[in-house]
Amino acid sequence: MTAQIIDGKAFAGTLRERIATHVAHLKQQHGITPGLAVVLVGEDPASQIYVRSKGKQTLEAGMNSYEHKLSADTTEAELLALISQLNADPQVHGILVQLPLPEHLNEALVINAIDSAKDVDGFHISNAGLLATGQKAMVPCTPLGCLMLLREFCGNLSGQNAVVIGRSNIVGKPMAQLLLRDSCTVTIAHSKTRNLQEIVRGADIVVAAVGRPLFIQGEWIKPGATVIDVGINRIEQGDGSTRLVGDINFDAAKEIAGAITPVPGGVGPMTIACLLANTVTACCRMHSLPEPEGLSV
Ligand code: GUN
Repeated sequence: MTAQIIDGKAFAGTLRERIATHVAHLKQQHGITPGLAVVLVGEDPASQIYVRSKGKQTLEAGMNSYEHKLSADTTEAELLALISQLNADPQVHGILVQLPLPEHLNEALVINAIDSAKDVDGFHISNAGLLATGQKAMVPCTPLGCLMLLREFCGNLSGQNAVVIGRSNIVGKPMAQLLLRDSCTVTIAHSKTRNLQEIVRGADIVVAAVGRPLFIQGEWIKPGATVIDVGINRIEQGDGSTRLVGDINFDAAKEIAGAITPVPGGVGPMTIACLLANTVTACCRMHSLPEPEGLSV
């Protein structure tokens, strides 16, 4: 059997269209333009690319984008002062501080200084707690995108065996919480898990977010399972060129799985689309307006 390839790029495009429609409605009916502030400290090349992409897609959806680029030697006090200013700004509905931060800045302190209602990354300790206790939260963008794809391609997730490989605060832990909320039986595995092969073999849903190229063998996948690969790893090929691969051996897994996301073009495009969705959601909640269908879970 050859798996259905889950086209995250196309799904993200449709999601962005829905977001743009809702943004137009907010502007016309309520005179409100959702605004997203992105803060970048330093000159990490990958972060610069992400931030540029976020700004571009924010504007394309009809929202306001506010970019704050600070030098690598910015002090914690300066960064906290900017966050305070953005927290108080009524034009700003979402705040994202691009990670990783330079080493001298305390990431947890900075994230938790963001107004939790504007925390469109869903990294604030209040949002993590709300999600873990099944309450209305801002949900981290990558797991949110994965859940949207899973619901689209699997329908009702209730009772399914899911394994999440990876235990980060950004992906693994919130992903497990979301799957649990959808009544999956969830196992959280990681790079030190024993018998990973057996655990993967029993899973109807596999979400891989371990950050190791081709870590999960295709042959481990249960026939017909739905496989979501969050990994984006650049590997060198024999001829000196490089290519992007996920955490799963896609070529082997696609012969066994029922549905699978490719890398690139699977989960990646969903992350920024979900950031825009979270910004619209935050804006609606802040103005006590009904939340648009399909942008939150
Ligand atoms: N760096 C890499 N991914 C992310 C993300 O989703 N949010 C933030 N703030 N920084 C990141």
